[in-house]
Amino acid sequence: MTPEKLMELAVEAMGHSYSPYSGYKVGAALLCGDGTVYQGCNMENASFSPTICAERTAFFKAVYDGHRDFKAIAVCGGKNGVITGAFPPCGVCRQVMREFCRDDFMIYTGGGDGKLSAYTLAELLPQSFSAQEHMKG
Ligand code: THU
Repeated sequence: MTPEKLMELAVEAMGHSYSPYSGYKVGAALLCGDGTVYQGCNMENASFSPTICAERTAFFKAVYDGHRDFKAIAVCGGKNGVITGAFPPCGVCRQVMREFCRDDFMIYTGGGDGKLSAYTLAELLPQSFSAQEHMKG
């Protein structure tokens, strides 16, 4: 699975977005260790705070199905579904990634013009609080 193909699946996932309030359609495609891909989209709510991001939708679907090993995620988004640049994951989604992913988990953003930016989780969430910290005496 190439980063470009993963991004294609993220772009497809954008089409599932439920975003009547912000108008931002966001899609994600999460690659598991066994090659399975889970897609997710953002789902907004009239009460705003129950809104969930595309990345977490993908993670929660995968974890529900028993996956605990993840390689990479592609994320894209834009107002009214038009991708104008990178759509970096929000801080809450980065923390959810931290729960299940190692430092070398890859995050790809972009998708509009075919140009992707690639980051490791360690780059996007340095000095993070993880399950390992939680277990320390
Ligand atoms: N959003 C995501 O889906 N992922 C992110 O990482 C950042 C934000 C969504 C939430 C909301 O529906 C819309 O983008 C605008 O914030």
